[in-house]
Amino acid sequence: MHDFTIRIAAKKDMAAASKFATPIVKELGFYNKEQMARNIYEMSAKELKANLKIYRDSVIIAITKEGKIVGLLTHFVGLNHVDWLDWILVDQRFRKKGLGKAMLNYAIQNAKRNGCHKIWCDTDPNNKQAIKFFKRMGFRKIGIARKHSFGQDVIFWERLF
Ligand SMILES: CC(C)(COP(=O)(O)OP(=O)(O)OC[C@H]1O[C@@H](n2cnc3c(N)ncnc32)[C@H](O)[C@@H]1OP(=O)(O)O)[C@@H](O)C(=O)NCCC(=O)NCCS
Repeated sequence: MHDFTIRIAAKKDMAAASKFATPIVKELGFYNKEQMARNIYEMSAKELKANLKIYRDSVIIAITKEGKIVGLLTHFVGLNHVDWLDWILVDQRFRKKGLGKAMLNYAIQNAKRNGCHKIWCDTDPNNKQAIKFFKRMGFRKIGIARKHSFGQDVIFWERLF
């Protein structure tokens, strides 16, 4: 495991978080134009800040000891104490080193503190990396929702605590 700090992001981190996350989201080539526009909007500093207003612990970042953001995760306490994992992004150069797992575990601790008993998320069916990651992290495939997000299929996943 590399030397990272994982913590809840503050308002002042959001410009750097957006700068980190936007190019990674843009590289995800399987989204249609409308979905991609939405994804980019979600990664804007304005929207990331808005997340913090809803839930103060909803944006998690991983930072190197030099202060560079290399990971970002967003999640929300949803209805009925079910936590929604929205985004998990790791810098290409830091993948497969345990960073995604560490951020996910951090989010799960938050979710538990917030009274949640499970976490769920979706992936695009073409996102092979993410599918391998979520399976490895103990998520169970709930099923495929056809023509769901901006008309695209999505796979839903869940993990109970
Ligand atoms: C998905 C993603 C967040 C994984 O992050 P990561 O830091 O590389 O994951 P980790 O190193 O913590 O891996 C955790 C486990 O998953 C496995 N895993 C992760 N990526 C994998 C891959 N591409 N193929 C096979 N296994 C993989 C690891 O081997 C590890 O297993 P282990 O605990 O048995 O060693 C990262 O690939 C990413 O940022 N992808 C682009 C953005 C994206 O698509 N996000 C998901 C949609 S929101």
